[in-house]
Amino acid sequence: MRLLLIGCTGLVGRGLIPLLHEAGHQLTVVSRRSASAVGLPDRLASELQWIKADPAAASNWASSAALTQALAACDGVVNLAGEPIAEQRWTPQHLRLLESSRLETTRRLAEAMAALETPPSVLVNASAVGYFGTSANAQFEETSAPGSDFLAGLCQRWEQAAAAKPEATRLVVLRIGIVLSADGGALAKMLPVFRTGFGGPIGSGQQWMSWIERSDLCRMIQSALEQPSWSGAINAVAPEPVSMADFASGLGRCLGRPSLLPVPGPVLQLLLGDGAQVVLEGQRVGSTRLQELAFSFRYPSLDAALAAATSSSSR
Ligand SMILES: NC(=O)c1ccc[n+]([C@@H]2O[C@H](COP(=O)([O-])OP(=O)(O)OC[C@H]3O[C@@H](n4cnc5c(N)ncnc54)[C@H](OP(=O)(O)O)[C@@H]3O)[C@@H](O)[C@H]2O)c1
Repeated sequence: MRLLLIGCTGLVGRGLIPLLHEAGHQLTVVSRRSASAVGLPDRLASELQWIKADPAAASNWASSAALTQALAACDGVVNLAGEPIAEQRWTPQHLRLLESSRLETTRRLAEAMAALETPPSVLVNASAVGYFGTSANAQFEETSAPGSDFLAGLCQRWEQAAAAKPEATRLVVLRIGIVLSADGGALAKMLPVFRTGFGGPIGSGQQWMSWIERSDLCRMIQSALEQPSWSGAINAVAPEPVSMADFASGLGRCLGRPSLLPVPGPVLQLLLGDGAQVVLEGQRVGSTRLQELAFSFRYPSLDAALAAATSSSSR
């Protein structure tokens, strides 16, 4: 397939691009950065088409001629673009960026696709398990009702923006759980502390973590692109969500280090403000759809996923 990849230069994209390339797909990457700045191996980067989006107008990228042309020529689109959620304090300005980097990008993508005579046959768009809000007790499946906090509202509007794609385009929305990889994201932040033996659960330890190992998520995106049976909203999570306390002890076990020192919630709140909610509160998410689609996980259990994510050969 000829694929257009947007927002695929980050943690997920760095696993996805090599996988899709090895599978023989022709890839065009849209990024605000140059290929060399993204950290892909030179040989791989040289085999990709690269379209540089204007960083000042990243959410307006779809109006550029190069992009309209690439969109018209492709069979499928993957859109994972979005400013990182839990990296900075949630000031009003940052909240607007969290929204616009997802909503404007996705809206303009759907509009540009709708203007084409022959639109791409499939759009795989990111969303997140934050769609369901947070809860200590509830179990969420694809058909569960959305939550009512900021992230839940953002995910709903993100999914609605993607749903404005043309009729002929199959849409797969992946509600992504916490992505496990040593290459970035939550695990990469925890690893150095745990390696020194000073790790432990963050906050109460009771909150749920619905996680997915990165290579499994990338294989889901590949299946969503290639298999017509994949459509609609799918919870991209492993079958075994765990509590933060179990996650911390699993990580300690995996590294052969103690994991007893809890990180108090207020410390994190000082650093991240409201953004700390992402880590201090969670949700228990399962996926009926992945079972129906008979998706075969390489890493269904946390121990295996942590071992893979912390081994140097993992991707
Ligand atoms: N990682 C997780 O645990 C997790 C969990 C749930 C949902 N998700 C969602 O899945 C998607 C991919 O996750 P990821 O971990 O790979 O994210 P990431 O590493 O933060 O990368 C996100 C991509 O979005 C683009 N981007 C960032 N800020 C932007 C902005 N202000 N305007 C336009 N584009 C921007 C970047 O593209 P360029 O710099 O190349 O332009 C980057 O490649 C994200 O939308 C994220 O919210 C991730």
